[in-house]
Amino acid sequence: MTKVGLFFGSTTGNTKTAAEMIQAELGGDNVVTVCNIADASESDFSEYECLIIATSTWDTGELQADWDGFFEDLDGIDFSGKKVAYFGVGDQIGYSDNFQDAMGTLEEKISSLGATTVGHWPTEGYEHEASKAEKNGKFVGLALDEDNQSEMTESRIKVWSTLIKTEFGI
Ligand SMILES: Cc1cc2nc3c(=O)[nH]c(=O)nc-3n(C[C@H](O)[C@H](O)[C@H](O)COP(=O)(O)O)c2cc1C
Repeated sequence: MTKVGLFFGSTTGNTKTAAEMIQAELGGDNVVTVCNIADASESDFSEYECLIIATSTWDTGELQADWDGFFEDLDGIDFSGKKVAYFGVGDQIGYSDNFQDAMGTLEEKISSLGATTVGHWPTEGYEHEASKAEKNGKFVGLALDEDNQSEMTESRIKVWSTLIKTEFGI
């Protein structure tokens, strides 16, 4: 059993690709187990002390479809004592008023169920107008944008992975 479980939802594959890059940065499949939320059940979460929750945003501020289907199941999971990091993939130009909203929706829900959020990320370098994923002037997790800033994805992932390695103690 690995220490970190990464649960992602991805419609066209961008979040999945980023999940695999982050898994590799954190030390590969001996350290991080990657699970598609479309195939996950509530009990899968109990195995991990540290979690990474990953989603894209769709339909103007909504959860990615597989996360939408799982959202009510989150209530049945005991998140107390768990450290949870988030990353999202969105489009800051096309959906400027709802950039990364799904990441914010999941963080709000999961932290209300007892989890501690780690891995906050600065908002500098983005051009969005509004985001549910912004709290106290920072994103609640890593914000990626394959539509407008794909050239920054690799370096952002490297910096964020170093940060959460420390937070997770791995
Ligand atoms: C119809 C549609 C609606 C979208 N709505 C949003 C949105 O509200 N906020 C946002 O940040 N990105 C939005 N996006 C951008 C996607 O999140 C982005 O393309 C992402 O890379 C998709 O990742 P995935 O392939 O992992 O699902 C939308 C894209 C489409 C096509």
